[in-house]
Amino acid sequence: YKRITVKSLVEMKANGEKIAMLTAYDYTMAQIVDGAGIDVILVGDSASNVMAGHETTLPITLDQMIYHAASVVRGIERSLVVVDLPFGSYQSDPKEALRSAIRIMKESGGHAVKMEGGKEIKESIKRILNAGIPVMGHLGLTPQSIYKFGTYTVRAKEDQEAIKLKEDALLLERLGCFAMVLEKVPAKLAKEVAESVSIPVIGIGAGNGVDGQVLVTHDMLGMNHEFNPRFLRRYADLHGEMTKAFEGYKNDVKSKSFPTDEEQY
Ligand code: KIV
Ligand code: NA
Repeated sequence: YKRITVKSLVEMKANGEKIAMLTAYDYTMAQIVDGAGIDVILVGDSASNVMAGHETTLPITLDQMIYHAASVVRGIERSLVVVDLPFGSYQSDPKEALRSAIRIMKESGGHAVKMEGGKEIKESIKRILNAGIPVMGHLGLTPQSIYKFGTYTVRAKEDQEAIKLKEDALLLERLGCFAMVLEKVPAKLAKEVAESVSIPVIGIGAGNGVDGQVLVTHDMLGMNHEFNPRFLRRYADLHGEMTKAFEGYKNDVKSKSFPTDEEQY
């Protein structure tokens, strides 16, 4: 395989080829996602919800993100691995932000970091980029700020927030970010943003006018039944499939039909 780089993604946008991105938090899942030809694997801080059962992304630590990211990196051959900087690891000051990003690069082998926010974290983004670490931005609904928003509803429906979002997108491009995620914003606004920058804009709940899409793998596989946002398309019912498998196993054990003579030594 030819490895995906931050440069290939910018080229894909220039050529009008859409970018497919999914999350992974572990070796086995990363192998499958990479093998399917997904361009970018995000080691998202959504691991806080999906892997650890927290209500928000805030509790996950830098050490935990590094553990997830290192596991993912061991599973991939082709995909670009982007790792979320978790809440608290970059907001205090640019030096701490750089230290956190360096730890991710050195200890996990990931290829880039992702950070939530625009102007507020400008100096931190600059410092990380200056160290040669590629940065993916993340605007719109930024879940690390959920207690500021108070709700997971669509962002930037009002002019003021839309104007700031457009300015932040231009800023991220100007600083040298190689791409950005736009989460849960009106499709029309997302399209405008994608057309205003030459770096790829990857949407989640941001419509079809952007340069690529990202979903949380466990959600698109239908592993949970409770999370039903409008933007989520399910490509499997793994909750149903896995429940069938577990029940089948349980019944076979209880009825003594597993193992058979052929399944023992
Ligand atoms: O953590 C995550 O999974 C994300 C994506 C939803 C973009 O940031
Ligand atoms: Na995230």
